[in-house]
Amino acid sequence: MSRFLVCPPDHYQIAYEINPWMDVKRGADPTVARVQWNALAAVLEKNCGATLERIVPVAGLPDMVFTTNAGIVAGHTVVLSQFRYPERQPEETPFEQWFESHGYEVKRLPPGLFFEGGGDMLGTRNMWFGGYPQRTDIRAYRYVGEFLGREILPLELVDPRFYHLDTCFCPLSGGEVIWFPGAFDRYGQAAVMERFPAEKRIAVPEEEAVRFACNAVCIGKHVVIPEGSPSTMERLEKLGYATHAVGLSEFIKSGGAAKCLTLALD
Ligand code: ARG
Repeated sequence: MSRFLVCPPDHYQIAYEINPWMDVKRGADPTVARVQWNALAAVLEKNCGATLERIVPVAGLPDMVFTTNAGIVAGHTVVLSQFRYPERQPEETPFEQWFESHGYEVKRLPPGLFFEGGGDMLGTRNMWFGGYPQRTDIRAYRYVGEFLGREILPLELVDPRFYHLDTCFCPLSGGEVIWFPGAFDRYGQAAVMERFPAEKRIAVPEEEAVRFACNAVCIGKHVVIPEGSPSTMERLEKLGYATHAVGLSEFIKSGGAAKCLTLALD
C-alpha cells in the first residue's frame, strides 16, 4: 500500500526559468500536460495500486504540481521544504496547510536554510541520501536527520541539468539503484558504489538520463518511468520489475517527471 500526494496541473505552465530545462519562450502545452498527468495518475492508481491524495492547486503557483518538493514525510511527521527560489517559496504555505489539516506534525528548519524535500532526499528503509548544493544546503541535512532520527549521506550534484537528487538517482524497493554517475562528483560516485554492489547498480546512459530515466517511481515490484528509456527498462525487467512508461514531455520542459510529480506519504 502506497500513498502519494499529487497536485493536478490546473495552473501548470513555464512562467519563469530556475533550471536549465525551463524556457518561457517555448512553454508547455496545457492540454497535453493535463492528458499526461491524468495518464500518470491512472497508471499509479490502477496498475500499481497506489492511493493518490490530491491537493487543491493554487493559481499563480505553476510548479506546485511537483509535490515531491513539498517536504519529506516519515510516519506522521513532515519536515517542510524551504525553497531556494523566491518563485517557489509561496508554495510553502498551501503545503503546510495541507499537512496540518491531514494530521501531520510539521517540523520547520531554521529560517534561511534551503531544503527541497523529496526532490533532494531519497532513500530506502535504513539508507538515506541528500543531494546538495544546487537547491538544498548541505547543513539542512543535520536538522532533517535529527527530526527524523535518520542518518543522511550527502551527495554533491555537479551537473546543472541534474539539480535535484531525484533527477539522477532512484533507489528501488529491492535494494537496487538507478543512477546517472556523471551527475555526481568523484566522492559521491564512490559513496554510491560503496553502498550498492555492482549488480545492484543500473547506470543509465546520458541519452536516457536527459529523458529523466532516473525520475522514476518505484512501488514494490512496479516502476513507473518516463518514456524514452528502453535500455533502463530492459535492465529493470531483468531484475524482476514490471515497468510502466509514461509520456511526460510537458513536465520535462520544467525539469521534472514522474517522481517529481508525486510525494511519498508512507
Ligand atoms: N520547475 C521546477 C523547479 O525547478 C521543477 C521541479 C522538479 N522537481 C524535482 N524534484 N526534480 O523547481
